[in-house]
Amino acid sequence: MKIKNICCIGAGYVGGPTMAVIAQKCPEINVTVVDINAERIAAWNDEDVENIPIYEPGLSDIVKEARGRNLFFSTDVDGAIDKAEMIFISVNTPTKTYGIGKGMAADLKFIELCARQIARVSKNDKIVVEKSTLPVRTAEALKNILDNTGNGVNYQILSNPEFLAEGTAVQDLQNPDRILIGGDIDTEEGLDAMQALVDVYAHWVPNENILTTNVWSSELSKLTANAFLAQRISSINAMSELCEKTGADVNEVAKAVGMDSRIGPKFLQSSVGFGGSCFQKDILNLVYISKSFGLNEVADYWEQVIIMNDHQKRRFASNMVKTLYNTVSGKKIAILGWAFKKDTNDTRESAAIYVSDYLLNEQAEIVIYDPKVTSEQIFSDLEYLGTHSSEEIRERVKVVNTAHDACKDAHAVTILTEWDEFKDLDWQAVYDDMLKPAFLFDGRRLLDRSTKEKIGFEFYAIGN
Ligand SMILES: NC(=O)c1ccc[n+]([C@@H]2O[C@H](COP(=O)([O-])OP(=O)(O)OC[C@H]3O[C@@H](n4cnc5c(N)ncnc54)[C@H](O)[C@@H]3O)[C@@H](O)[C@H]2O)c1
Repeated sequence: MKIKNICCIGAGYVGGPTMAVIAQKCPEINVTVVDINAERIAAWNDEDVENIPIYEPGLSDIVKEARGRNLFFSTDVDGAIDKAEMIFISVNTPTKTYGIGKGMAADLKFIELCARQIARVSKNDKIVVEKSTLPVRTAEALKNILDNTGNGVNYQILSNPEFLAEGTAVQDLQNPDRILIGGDIDTEEGLDAMQALVDVYAHWVPNENILTTNVWSSELSKLTANAFLAQRISSINAMSELCEKTGADVNEVAKAVGMDSRIGPKFLQSSVGFGGSCFQKDILNLVYISKSFGLNEVADYWEQVIIMNDHQKRRFASNMVKTLYNTVSGKKIAILGWAFKKDTNDTRESAAIYVSDYLLNEQAEIVIYDPKVTSEQIFSDLEYLGTHSSEEIRERVKVVNTAHDACKDAHAVTILTEWDEFKDLDWQAVYDDMLKPAFLFDGRRLLDRSTKEKIGFEFYAIGN
């Protein structure tokens, strides 16, 4: 089966970049990305591609190349479903905030709404692709809804989890380590559907990098990959605290450990803690699934990765307070970086949110600068926590347009996102404009200690 029209439901951090790259690499396939968020779609269609809603290096150029040719962004969800032979579901699957599984299970209401909409609209056979990260066996539920509420149309459900990392999404999509496609390997229709998706990726991905598995292995592999990645960060962060007590340096430890070819060098960068929309939610999801099968030891094992991460964020903030003579009340603290990592404007679960909240509890005055995050986003992140009133936040938090403006007259500066531009700041000028003693807390191990101490900073870095 040759795919001519693809629809992707969800124009977010996954749907947008993924479909842009598919459209770029498959010029004969029409790709329509739809979303119920009209503002987001309008931004994707903005004449100036620099205004697309998601910042990823290289993405705006691809949108410029393909948009209007074979890449379209629209709010007409029904129209795009009807036209497509293959429909990707790329909607959000956040942690549940209510009812059974609250705070752990994945909330699948958006997925279910998509399934019901596909069932209502479809008039001919469809391949439905799970691109969102889903609990194992969700494909079964999807199939059930589609088969029982549809118009007698045949559906094939594939699992095709996305492994891109924000900040390097375009590179990851263009040269993926692997593409994983799970499907019904026991029927000819299932194998045909899998082949149709293999053919899409085969436009640019070598065959040996395209894995096909049964659908449950594919769903579970995505959760497993995120759990393993997050576990590495929590492991090195656990060591960072021990390094601070013993005089070891976590960067030296990470290098020595990472040169062991059985371990490898990646994901051993100690920091104030991981953030992002996926690691925490996917591990909690894994914990919930394990618990629901009565596998309490498995659940506890993975939950510790989250416990360690929360501890690291709290430990960093409390160390700031302790170092600033046990009080930050009324003191001005400059926060450099709000995104959960560099080269993205995504702030979901960013460590900066939690460190700021801790400092607000201690009555600090906070001034924030991030090169890609808007002030509305920063205020909305803090308000979402619900720990401080909107008025209090707006009174005590300021967002400014340069790092220098943030640091002026500050008692302390902290780096919470590893943006390259913070490495090259004129740190002497920053120091000159700060109150003394001038404290500098590096939550990302971005800066060189000796040059900063030579300038006169009181310098603290994670794990050193
Ligand atoms: N962000 C990542 O780095 C990443 C990486 C791999 C996988 N994932 C997974 O991909 C999925 C999407 O993540 P994201 O970061 O792109 O989320 P996102 O919140 O950025 O985007 C989801 C979009 O879906 C839209 N949507 C929700 N319900 C809809 C509906 N019924 N019809 C049309 N549009 C609808 C929302 O308006 C939103 O724009 C999640 O399951 C996530 O776990 C994310």
